Amino acid sequence: MERITTIAALRSSLAVARRGGKRIALVPTMGALHEGHLSLVDAARQRADLVVMSVFVNSLQFGLQEDWGTYPRPREHDAALAAGRGVDLLFAPEDEEMYRGDTGVRVMPGRMATVWEGAIRPGHFEGVLTVVAKLFHLVGPSVAWFGQKDIQQVIMIRAMVHDLNMPVEIGVAPIVRDQDGLALSSRNAYLSAEQRAAATAIPRALG
Ligand code: PAF
Repeated sequence: MERITTIAALRSSLAVARRGGKRIALVPTMGALHEGHLSLVDAARQRADLVVMSVFVNSLQFGLQEDWGTYPRPREHDAALAAGRGVDLLFAPEDEEMYRGDTGVRVMPGRMATVWEGAIRPGHFEGVLTVVAKLFHLVGPSVAWFGQKDIQQVIMIRAMVHDLNMPVEIGVAPIVRDQDGLALSSRNAYLSAEQRAAATAIPRALG
């Protein structure tokens, strides 16, 4: 697996792949990988010659009081998991690399960003759509894969691709759950035993 941290190196590596006519799939993540992310790699692998995974904790989608600074960044462990699952190219830039000289141009989400998660996280989906648009421009995938767990995110990315005529297919992989029914999430690590037990009410209620 090739590990890349700069935009310049990413572009030159992918230019070679594109010249060779390879079909590129992208799995965008914020790292702290778990089986949910790795199932996206499996799905991506099925219809692509080259699987690119991005690991980037995108400051733009975190509110001021949120956990951008403390979000887990187990870089070597993530790289080992990605390589073990068959990722061909791991793009893991730092914030400075992605937003150097940023002047504040953003992708504005529509009305959908005002409900559900968007209602309690103002600016979150603007940050998500902006970084996903950047990743699409940088990687140029034929298909990009996202988890059904973040269904509002999926709906909004699909809307962006439609409204802005982006030439990328959006693949959606099913939720992967732990033995107690809780959907796998990097942030589950924040839950106390008591909170975790309480959270299992969600899959039971949906069940
Ligand atoms: O779902 C996530 O992990 C993030 O929102 C994404 C799509 C990688 C954008 O930062």
